[in-house]
Amino acid sequence: MEISESTIIVIFGASGDLAKRKLMPALFQLTQDALLPNKTRIVGFARRAKTHEEFRSEIQEALVKFARSKPREGIAELKEFTSRLYYQVGNYDDKESFDELKILLDDIDGECGIPPGRGNRLFYISTPPDVFTDIVTVLGQADHIANPEDEDRWTRVIIEKPFGRDLETARALNKKVLAMFDESQVYRIDHYLGKETVQNIMAFRFGNSIFEPLWNRGFVSHIHINVAEAVSVEGRGGYYDHSGALRDMVQNHMLQLLALVAMEPPASFAPNSVRDEKLKVLSAIPPIGGMDVGHSTVRGQYAAGTIDGRAITDYLNEPGVSDDSVTETFVALKLYVDNWRWAGVPFYLRTGKALSSRFTEINIEFRQPPLALFSHSVNNVLKGAGKMQPNILSLRVQPNEGIRLSIGMKVPGPKMVLQPTDMEFCYDEVFDTEPPAAYERLILDAMSGDSTLFIRQDEVDAAWTLIDGILDGWRNEETPHIHLYRAGTWGPYAADEFIAQDIKKMGAV
Ligand code: BG6
Repeated sequence: MEISESTIIVIFGASGDLAKRKLMPALFQLTQDALLPNKTRIVGFARRAKTHEEFRSEIQEALVKFARSKPREGIAELKEFTSRLYYQVGNYDDKESFDELKILLDDIDGECGIPPGRGNRLFYISTPPDVFTDIVTVLGQADHIANPEDEDRWTRVIIEKPFGRDLETARALNKKVLAMFDESQVYRIDHYLGKETVQNIMAFRFGNSIFEPLWNRGFVSHIHINVAEAVSVEGRGGYYDHSGALRDMVQNHMLQLLALVAMEPPASFAPNSVRDEKLKVLSAIPPIGGMDVGHSTVRGQYAAGTIDGRAITDYLNEPGVSDDSVTETFVALKLYVDNWRWAGVPFYLRTGKALSSRFTEINIEFRQPPLALFSHSVNNVLKGAGKMQPNILSLRVQPNEGIRLSIGMKVPGPKMVLQPTDMEFCYDEVFDTEPPAAYERLILDAMSGDSTLFIRQDEVDAAWTLIDGILDGWRNEETPHIHLYRAGTWGPYAADEFIAQDIKKMGAV
């Protein structure tokens, strides 16, 4: 799809962390790579008064710190980019502020040689969620939204997560959004879908024919999806304590990863074909609730420790966290996808903050060969005959992006001894280039009107339905089972134990 010549991107929450660390660097990179049309302009909207010039130098400073690649021509390039930035002060629920914004946008259209009010608009809502509905509502009231049928110009809105904090609030938010925008204009973002290696899950599965015949319950024993983070809540305690790992990571990023791994091949790569298939997966996950939470989930919370020499305080001591908080900073859970392809195959999801290091990996573990014909050794230690090491396919999302297949090979020598060895593909070795940041791809897609990598409301609903059940189950536990783990470890021992025991039981069946 083509990107039309003249678009104004309005970022609500322009002074926030996301805008400075991710959105502006992404827009800068796209400009450097000549992927944005010349007439693209960016307007920051936030509550604090500042001039265009003050905003420009604030963003210039942020880019010096956070730009993905250093400007080739130094400061001149930064200045050229920031000269396309504008600032509008205002309150998110105040129509007058949005009327002023409209005057500014119309003026910018004029500067770009477009009849005022006829340029395209991409509204990016990256504020705290409590003002999402105000913004969409006032955008409508202040007449910022083009008719979706208008062929000469478009208006789109990107909405950051969290999209609600449960099914009810997500639906209420959606109702407000759809009171003003048409679904075709709404882009609900999950930045994991913009990661190169996440898109590669689809490329790997549906652009190659050798693995797909094995991609089912007949050959796959179980699947792990691990998202480990080495950061603690680091100043986000106020938000995080009302969220927790389940809402913050599982409801969105991890269930999306699961959906991509488990979905059927779509009929095409058109937005609704892909999203229909993901929805079918999410809807096929049997709910976990009531007493089941005890058998299918493990919650943890970090206590003081060190990560790479950095001292981490107890979660309970983080600013904004309540003294008796039972919010989980770690969660492990077992899910099934009850359909013809996956019935009986457990998906183990694990994520946590303040863990030993940062990595996101999906491991597909295949069934054992039916007969153990050979002895095998692991790390050069002879284990004798018996169970072979399974084949494991690892999709490494970050860092060291790549794919690894572990297979049993004969150890050289007179004996028939097998040892697991890895066949590996590393992104940076093969392509010799750093993958683009997720936000670069997603902003570009939104500008070209491609919503394939954005979330549809029914996916949001299906994910919340599952999460609400678990949260309810946890709330109703007589004593909340929160396992403490030391920061800098791999999470609570109970989680490893739970998964190891479960896999062992499966083997026994
Ligand atoms: C965000 C969560 O959506 O994703 C954060 O709110 C988390 O808590 C972040 O740290 C992880 O993203 P990434 O791209 O660093 O893996």
